Amino acid sequence: MKVTVVGAGAVGATCADNIVRRELVEELVLVDIKEGFAEGKALDITQTASLLGFDTRVTGVTNDYTKTANSDVCVITSGIPRKPGMTREELIGTNARIVEEVSKNLLKYSPDTIIVVISNPMDTMTYLTLKATGLPRHRVIGMGGILDSARFKTYLQKALDCSQNDLHATVIGGHGDTTMIPLTRLATINGTPVSNMLSAEQLKQIAADTMVGGATLTKLLGTSAWYAPGAAGAALVESIVRNQKKVFPCCVSLEGEYGQNDICLGVPVVIGNKGWEKIIDYKLNAEETAEFNKSAEAVRSMNKVLDTISA
Ligand code: 2OP
Repeated sequence: MKVTVVGAGAVGATCADNIVRRELVEELVLVDIKEGFAEGKALDITQTASLLGFDTRVTGVTNDYTKTANSDVCVITSGIPRKPGMTREELIGTNARIVEEVSKNLLKYSPDTIIVVISNPMDTMTYLTLKATGLPRHRVIGMGGILDSARFKTYLQKALDCSQNDLHATVIGGHGDTTMIPLTRLATINGTPVSNMLSAEQLKQIAADTMVGGATLTKLLGTSAWYAPGAAGAALVESIVRNQKKVFPCCVSLEGEYGQNDICLGVPVVIGNKGWEKIIDYKLNAEETAEFNKSAEAVRSMNKVLDTISA
């Protein structure tokens, strides 16, 4: 198995690091446009092999897509990150051009690949990748909901003083500060609804904290986060290459599911070695459906901005 990660910045390198530590694949290629940067990161990661006990071969290249040939999965993290006070949406102009070029280059050398999109604004970048490559929809997956759900669990854990690993909690909708939907009604601790243990007020605060989870980190770090985004990307890659069939909230192209069309948005999907295999219907109530539709409208208007950007 072979995985390519494009963008050797903090998110891409952390994702690569998590993939090789768990020896998910035999070969990992790291690509960046900055001369020598991916080569340096790849060499540094390679020097941890005997310390961590993995045998994955890691290669770094400067914009040389021939080395990415026949990748089973390609992860796109390229583009500029958020600065404090910026929304993910403000990155669209710069990142759209980059993501379109990167996805086309990847497909040229790996026509059978599954593409994972992490670049922001992620929902729109996933939609763009789908359109630019013409790939079947099950082979284009946006990673945002896994990360947002991990952040949701972190805030739930703080309130409940429990193990995060006993929590099931999902964030659907867009990967934006105002478009994501933490599903507090369906969150459980080992099967028991967390609403049995937390007040409506507490749950509202946890949902609000989750929604600005990325912005909180950007403010603290001066740039966007990387440990959890990188680990979330690797978890998605793991379910693909190991055909685990995990249910993850991912940004996928909807054709009538959840009442939406011509949009890529976060919904629970089964992830295996064909990409996303099916969409799970969580049977949203009226309030959640209204929030989902509102989120779709916001993402749709962001997607329209793509028409004004010439590739
Ligand atoms: C985040 O939320 C990078 O979008 C990513 O941290």
